[in-house]
Amino acid sequence: MELTINGSTFQVDVEPDTPLLWVLRDTLGMTGTKYGCGVAQCGACTVLIDGQATRSCVTTVDGVVGTAVTTIEAIEQDTEGRKVVEAWVANQVPQCGYCQSGQVMAATALLKQTPQPTEEDIAGAMVNLCRCGTYNAISAAVRQAAQA
Ligand code: FES
Ligand code: FES
Repeated sequence: MELTINGSTFQVDVEPDTPLLWVLRDTLGMTGTKYGCGVAQCGACTVLIDGQATRSCVTTVDGVVGTAVTTIEAIEQDTEGRKVVEAWVANQVPQCGYCQSGQVMAATALLKQTPQPTEEDIAGAMVNLCRCGTYNAISAAVRQAAQA
């Protein structure tokens, strides 16, 4: 199976129904994408598929053949992604950090779709869980990234 991830092509020999998360982490060694719940509830595993925030724990690998997958490893090569990371650093968003790659991916997808998001847009898009409670800092960083 041929996958396009972060602009590169990878050949992987895995079962078609393997979750993309495990192909990224275990087969390809891209461990920036995290496992949280495995059942589409937390968002730790969020990646971009053709620019859309997608939970990779419940996305089978055969479903992303022919799409462009972007992971946290390459997010700073993306214009919006770089602004998000800079705003994340400026606002000191991460605490333990575990949820943060998923949060950055969700924020990047939001700004791609809605460059000037309202508070409602931000609340609607930034639904990944953070057990450290960084939600206020996340909102501030998204607002800052939108101004950058
Ligand atoms: S690990 Fe995918 S949503 Fe929690
Ligand atoms: S920073 Fe710890 S879970 Fe979000």
